[in-house]
Amino acid sequence: MGVWLEGRALAEKIKQEVKEEVEHFREKTNQVPGLIGILVGENKSSQIYLRSKEKASQGLGIASQILTLPANTEARALKARIAELNQQEDVDGILVQLPLPGHLKAHDIICAISPEKDVDGFHPFNLGSLLANEEGLKPCTPMGIIELLRYNRVPLEGKEVVVIGRSLIVGKPLAAMMTNENATVTICHSRTKDLAAVAARADILVAAMGKPAFVKPEFVKESAVVIDVGINQLADAARVRDLFGEDEKREKDLAEKGYTVVGDVDPRAVERAAAMTPVPGGVGLLTVAMLMKNTLEAFKRRRRFEP
Ligand code: GUN
Repeated sequence: MGVWLEGRALAEKIKQEVKEEVEHFREKTNQVPGLIGILVGENKSSQIYLRSKEKASQGLGIASQILTLPANTEARALKARIAELNQQEDVDGILVQLPLPGHLKAHDIICAISPEKDVDGFHPFNLGSLLANEEGLKPCTPMGIIELLRYNRVPLEGKEVVVIGRSLIVGKPLAAMMTNENATVTICHSRTKDLAAVAARADILVAAMGKPAFVKPEFVKESAVVIDVGINQLADAARVRDLFGEDEKREKDLAEKGYTVVGDVDPRAVERAAAMTPVPGGVGLLTVAMLMKNTLEAFKRRRRFEP
């Protein structure tokens, strides 16, 4: 039976460090980092994510604001708004919450953000720097995963890592980061042949494809470390009971909200693993903490502050 790798303690430690540094700069310079989250349309999950980012920022003394635009906003208008924010002195971080409405192309919009303010690390300039193993703002979720492994003293050098999912938000940048850490990395996706057998080779298995409980216990090598990046809303009560048995918290979620949040990994996989991250309470908390760290980093670099 493996242990649960909770994200909370590390997320709180990182946020506390950011908070102290923000306070230090506020006292020294009377300036604080500024973060703008852009929400286009009314995607419910995006609203929740952005609100949690705003709340975390405010708790750390970061000046944060959500800019809400209507779902039918044209690309030209959105890019013009981003261009204004690029010029705005007191804005250090700009993030556009994804997914965007169908008529907007994420790549096109992200390219409009100044790379030095791209706190999501999604701009091609920053992704290119990551591939080159050079300095730059890095995507928050993969960075959180690397930090969580480091915090729990799970070495990456020489390890077989299998990442399921090839998104630009998690899979691809994480593969680059782990390669930079000298792991041997395989990326799997929907067309991978015999995915279960490939996954079962992994010393460290990362599930990031957004399919509830897709990774079964038999995909997991004995004593592997499993990182579950999935955040899926599951509304099927029978399926929830099948996966979790009697679970008071999930029953309560279903009764109150009509859904419960589950990962990409069948929770019974923890019985074979050495360790596994829970959902919720795992990687998700670190994504927000890393965004705070990136915002502070962008602030220091842009305003040329030394510690
Ligand atoms: N959608 C899902 N994850 C993310 C993220 O980390 N940043 C943004 N901007 N959108 C997302």
